[in-house]
Amino acid sequence: MRSFFFLYCFVTITIVSVTAQSTGYKEQYRPQYHFSPAQHWMNDPNGMFFYKGEYHLFYQYYPGGNTWGPMHWGHAVSKDMVYWAHLPIALYPDSLGYIFSGSAFVDWNNTSGLGANKQPPLIALFTYHNMAGEKAGHTDFQYQGLAYSNDKGRSWKKYDQNPVLPNTTGIKDFRDPKVIWHSATKQWIMTLAVKDHVEFWSSPNLLQWNYLSSFGNEVGAHGGVWECPDLFPMKVKETGAEKWVLLQSINPGGPNGGSATQYFVGDFDGKTFSVDALFKKTLWLDDGRDNYAGVTWSDVPATDGRRLFLGWMSNWDYAQVVPTTVWRSAMTLPRALTLHKTKNGYQLQMNPVAEVKKLRGSTVKFLPTVIKKKLVLTNSSIPVQQSEWIFELELTDASTTNIGIVLSNSLNEKYTTGYNIKENVFFSNRMQEGKHSFSDKFAAGVHTAPRISTSKRIKLHLFIDASSVELFADDGMVCMTDLIFPTKPFEQIQLITEGGGVKLLSAKGFALKRIWN
Ligand code: FRU
Repeated sequence: MRSFFFLYCFVTITIVSVTAQSTGYKEQYRPQYHFSPAQHWMNDPNGMFFYKGEYHLFYQYYPGGNTWGPMHWGHAVSKDMVYWAHLPIALYPDSLGYIFSGSAFVDWNNTSGLGANKQPPLIALFTYHNMAGEKAGHTDFQYQGLAYSNDKGRSWKKYDQNPVLPNTTGIKDFRDPKVIWHSATKQWIMTLAVKDHVEFWSSPNLLQWNYLSSFGNEVGAHGGVWECPDLFPMKVKETGAEKWVLLQSINPGGPNGGSATQYFVGDFDGKTFSVDALFKKTLWLDDGRDNYAGVTWSDVPATDGRRLFLGWMSNWDYAQVVPTTVWRSAMTLPRALTLHKTKNGYQLQMNPVAEVKKLRGSTVKFLPTVIKKKLVLTNSSIPVQQSEWIFELELTDASTTNIGIVLSNSLNEKYTTGYNIKENVFFSNRMQEGKHSFSDKFAAGVHTAPRISTSKRIKLHLFIDASSVELFADDGMVCMTDLIFPTKPFEQIQLITEGGGVKLLSAKGFALKRIWN
């Protein structure tokens, strides 16, 4: 987001009309198995950590309307990242400013001294955004604040000497701290987005911070402002070596327009981050248009070992005008990341967490066959817009140009995703999926993602909810997350081929349960 002031003016005009109550998570377009707030505006996931059996999710929240406004941290907890319980708002704006994005985690050794009753404190590091400073044309109106909890995250106190990191850079964009414990150098590391690069800062106690280094000025995509970074180590699947991954959201400047998340793979020694020699071109976490500002959970137990991710399922190009009432925005499915070394360099793989399987209900299976033109998959026990599909296909016919999965309704609206064999790209086509009068940027064209695998076998894994489609292709080596708003729900699903045909090795569809009571 570029001008927060401009957005705020817009918001104050529109909030007065938002008085509707939640209608039990049954409104048109309401996600049935993705996280969304009961009411009002949400953007980035914030402060995700795991503690005492609970996954915490905080999020940018404006409780006064369903467009962006004075930011709070909304809060929810889950035992499995699938079913969520809403908790009261964790952080409210105060005289220092709105509460922008940031991270939260467990201070296991009480380095901050903010613990109580022999329990480690839970710490949130966030950006204060001071509107008065922005309006006055200052450059130092974003700075970092700290809050802590001594009761399993149920209540949060702001540190009485905030800010813990003022902005002396002369650069306005100075935000979204992601903090980790760096065990090799025994210090806290904060990664901060600063306009067109990140800065790394260190601290022994989370209260005083020292500048370490900067990264990114001349690497990666620079079509917009850098926001919401995340730095973490991962074991490379093929070699077992440790590499550091830096997720870096950017808006605008995404590969398919608007907001998106690029990433870098390299080394971090407690002071500087350097990209790996294998890095050649900008890598994108998700080539759909609607996965932004995503970061990973802190404090996931080593016995679990997963790197768990959640993104905001929208795009600043149109996030504030998508046709939902009562609430706006949802999160992606929770996903697990793994890191691979391929002949083209490092590559993140992303798949929904296994816990999501518990949503599966009625199942339909298809026998192996050769599909020429189309295979109708529609099944009365599987509502298309609350379903999951897994297709394993083999490319056997050189004359085949396209494989698509088509969702449609009786209004002749359709959404197609699939694999364009000729261009060697996965694609998402929402140009005819509904009425798009809310934004000319929403369905401006077909968007694509280059395929990485060269195998003749192709796997398409699809999650369809009331207003989204998530495609995990080739076991999550390529992902596309896209919002959809058909005028009436899609009730037909079919697999189509153009040119020749394709061999279907297996296909399964599942009805998915809803997560709200
Ligand atoms: C990203 C972002 C962050 C900022 C927050 C404000 O979507 O612009 O950089 O902290 O949203 O709500």
